[in-house]
Amino acid sequence: MNETVATLVLSDDSQAAGIINMYLRDVGTFDSKGTVSDFSQAFDIVSSCEKIILIVDIDDRTEQKIDFVTKITADVPTCKVLIVSETPSVELMVKLMRAGVREFVSYPIIKTEFFEVMNKLSSSFGCVEKDASRCRIITVFSNKGGIGKTSIATNLALEIAKTTKENVALVDLNFQLGDVTTFLDIKPSFNISYMLENLEKINGDFLLSTMEKYRDTSLYVLADPPFFKMADDVSTKQIEKLLAILSGTFAFIIIDASSAFDDKTVTALEKSDLILLTAVANLPAMRNCQRCLELFAKLGFPKEKVQILINRYMENDEVKSEDVEKVLDKKIYWQIPNNYFTMMSAINKGIPVVELNPSSNVAKSYRDFSLFLTDNIFRADFESKLRENRKDY
Ligand SMILES: Nc1ncnc2c1ncn2[C@@H]1O[C@H](COP(=O)(O)OP(=O)(O)OP(=O)(O)O)[C@@H](O)[C@H]1O
Ligand SMILES: [Mg+2]
Repeated sequence: MNETVATLVLSDDSQAAGIINMYLRDVGTFDSKGTVSDFSQAFDIVSSCEKIILIVDIDDRTEQKIDFVTKITADVPTCKVLIVSETPSVELMVKLMRAGVREFVSYPIIKTEFFEVMNKLSSSFGCVEKDASRCRIITVFSNKGGIGKTSIATNLALEIAKTTKENVALVDLNFQLGDVTTFLDIKPSFNISYMLENLEKINGDFLLSTMEKYRDTSLYVLADPPFFKMADDVSTKQIEKLLAILSGTFAFIIIDASSAFDDKTVTALEKSDLILLTAVANLPAMRNCQRCLELFAKLGFPKEKVQILINRYMENDEVKSEDVEKVLDKKIYWQIPNNYFTMMSAINKGIPVVELNPSSNVAKSYRDFSLFLTDNIFRADFESKLRENRKDY
């Protein structure tokens, strides 16, 4: 039997808090623990409940409350947080989303909307299945080999898992000898072929128990098949289904794509929310990038879906960032500095550079990139939610 979900309002505004508690008592499906304004009291109540939704009015003592929410989301996994605010700013929400908050409602509270969110939060306790539309699929792509796709996919996936604490799937779509397992020094017992052959049996619990978890992080790896021949009869439908299933469990899917424009890669690119078109700053690479951009335009991909990622960037590169932007008629999304020695030593040891040498310039760039990328996603999520809410008035 599921226990009742408790609720606690953390607020300095007793009137508004009173209304929220009145709503909760009227509905009767939640066990309302009332209102507190004191952080340590809130912490004691929250950590003593099996399942609790902490409703935080963020309008007063905002910075302190952000710190408190960050502590709660890190220390009390049995607590979900709902933010209420008069005028939540995008910057504020991005900070809260970074801390693990995914839901908010704004004043004046509309009862139906409030309970929709409350019910969503309460049914998410202990449930590995997620709202698939919330999952972001990010593909690292280049139509040239050896540009750094696997280095980027691996380090970025690990950083996103660490910064968001969400479950992240790293998928090696290189059916012909992928490198992810070598880069992470893992020997998974299951690979993508097994998943593709057993799509009907797979659910969230199965995925989380069979996919290789990287150390004590929330990064799960779906490795390439051990033999070439296994790739032969993989259909695009199977890739689509696999991604759909993963989307129901993971908050992010990072794909290390093959450089070939084969049907499996194109399916992954189509299904992606973001394509990191990776290049180095030299003329042949720019020409290749241009061709890819033209092809993506023909495939009808929205411009913002494809972003330029420059790898092995050097201050004294002959082709400057401005030249790249001019040639491609597109802003560079991110640049990762050149550091061959550090990258190579990480690959040889099978330890991602963000773990092996966190103070190196490449590791720092990956950390900043992960924050930049996830903040952009959180910002877009929040803005679209705001637009939806306004439509309801
Ligand atoms: N920021 C960097 N600075 C210097 N060298 C790098 C950097 N990133 C990657 N490399 C090097 O580039 C080489 C290729 O990297 P990687 O295997 O990640 O590329 P790839 O695009 O996945 O290659 P493939 O097409 O073979 O799958 C490696 O030797 C790696 O050490
Ligand atoms: Mg590779």
